[in-house]
Amino acid sequence: MELLKKRILDEGKALSENVLKVDSFLNHGVDAKLMYEIGTEFKNYFEKHNVTKIFTIESSGIAPTVMTAMQMELPMVTLKKQSSKILNGEVYQTTVHSFTKSLDYQLTLSKKYISEDDNILIIDDFLANGEAALGAIRLVEEAGAKVAGIGIVIEKSFQPGRKLLEDKGYDIYSLARIKKLGKDLIEFI
Ligand code: G4P
Repeated sequence: MELLKKRILDEGKALSENVLKVDSFLNHGVDAKLMYEIGTEFKNYFEKHNVTKIFTIESSGIAPTVMTAMQMELPMVTLKKQSSKILNGEVYQTTVHSFTKSLDYQLTLSKKYISEDDNILIIDDFLANGEAALGAIRLVEEAGAKVAGIGIVIEKSFQPGRKLLEDKGYDIYSLARIKKLGKDLIEFI
């Protein structure tokens, strides 16, 4: 998506060879107009996938997902990150390890918001090691539902997430794919 790539080049900053800061439009400040365009891109790609609901993971996945859900006229659900287990039988829960942040959290979904007839599109802001996406997939599949595809705003293609998900047969659509990060360097595939 050219508009997104331009914003990344204009405003993004590589903090290291691994981390891209995009606080001005995605992770802290949010550019609603850009999020709307992102929603259009995801809609155009996924509209033939018979999606029934769109899931995201709090918090930075919410803005692009709201815009996609609005345009696809579908319900949206935000998966919660809890620090400890609350196993009261009313939720599906799975442990996710974040390599970027060196911590574990419990990804949580209320059983009320999924059924085995669902075909779920998962959207997130970044794809790095794929742990968050894999956690979301585990919750969907534990509920007996299907994963329709995975939409990613910024994929760091030099990290293992994409390959891991592709090898498992999931359809991934990333709007910007970064090949390399470095001092004053942001290179796309
Ligand atoms: P993974 O799911 O692909 O394995 O990624 P990982 O756990 O390593 O990422 C943990 C958090 O760090 C996620 O945010 C993810 O969006 C974010 N992240 C990963 N790489 C980058 C990067 O290069 N730049 C930025 N800006 N963020 C990155 P989170 O903890 O879910 O936070 P948030 O959604 O509340 O913002």
